Amino acid sequence: MDLFSLTGKTALVTGGTRGIGLMIARGLLQAGAAKVYVSSRKAEACEQAAKELSAFGEAVPVPADISTEAECLRLAEAVGDGPLHILVNNAGATWGAPLEEFPASAWDKVVDLNLKAPFYLTRALLPALRAAATPDDPARVINIGSIDGIMTPGERYSYTTSKAAVHQLTRVLAKELGPQHITVNAVAPGPFESKMMAATLEAFGDTIAAAVPLRRIGRPDDMAGAAVFLASRAGSFVNGAVIPVDGGLTTL
Ligand SMILES: NC(=O)c1ccc[n+]([C@@H]2O[C@H](COP(=O)([O-])OP(=O)(O)OC[C@H]3O[C@@H](n4cnc5c(N)ncnc54)[C@H](OP(=O)(O)O)[C@@H]3O)[C@@H](O)[C@H]2O)c1
Repeated sequence: MDLFSLTGKTALVTGGTRGIGLMIARGLLQAGAAKVYVSSRKAEACEQAAKELSAFGEAVPVPADISTEAECLRLAEAVGDGPLHILVNNAGATWGAPLEEFPASAWDKVVDLNLKAPFYLTRALLPALRAAATPDDPARVINIGSIDGIMTPGERYSYTTSKAAVHQLTRVLAKELGPQHITVNAVAPGPFESKMMAATLEAFGDTIAAAVPLRRIGRPDDMAGAAVFLASRAGSFVNGAVIPVDGGLTTL
């Protein structure tokens, strides 16, 4: 079982206070991670998540609004020089509106958080990731993309393009950082329960589940499993991959 063990590892999960980020933070701790920093804008949410996660291991709350480079730098500083074995760039936001009404602000909000933040944060944390990186056991960057970056959903113009860009950024950084023993991969989730998806799943949950080849939506263990795989020895030769965790939705 040591193939999937994260014993002794330190991780940072952005947006780790709820939804997919919380599923991943919990999974990392359950796989043996020694310490997981959980970050989001709201200090109270960070405290609450850390408290909940402390049932599984050490969780450290670090509030930061990473939609600006300055805050990405501050978060990186709070995490320190490492070693940081696992960085999960998960925090994200979406916006939906008809083409003619789609506001400029919805481009800035979504692209700043979904695309620029993973770039700024990964760059700022390179010293900490390098401190964890070895040829046999690379440091890991896991970007949370989306099947929306692979498929062509309507009305979420900035979201779908920001996610496709994150997938491409993943491949570019994987090539550049591989020789430094840092892997960069993306997980492209299909539908999972979260605040972001709450209204959609309430209105169309059954229809969405029926459309998935596996006939259900994602469960917390599905997301934790993908992250643990990529973060553990089991995933140490995977680099530059974009892995849909979607029950086969992207095959349609
Ligand atoms: N759920 C799905 O079905 C699905 C499918 C595909 C991809 N995804 C991706 O999975 C990731 C997580 O989504 P989710 O569904 O779990 O959404 P969620 O429930 O809305 O969670 C988003 C997380 O990001 C944090 N956050 C939002 N804005 C932030 C900012 N400016 N700075 C720092 N943290 C911020 C939120 O906490 P605060 O409000 O406290 O900041 C929260 O912890 C996103 O990248 C999303 O695109 C989700």
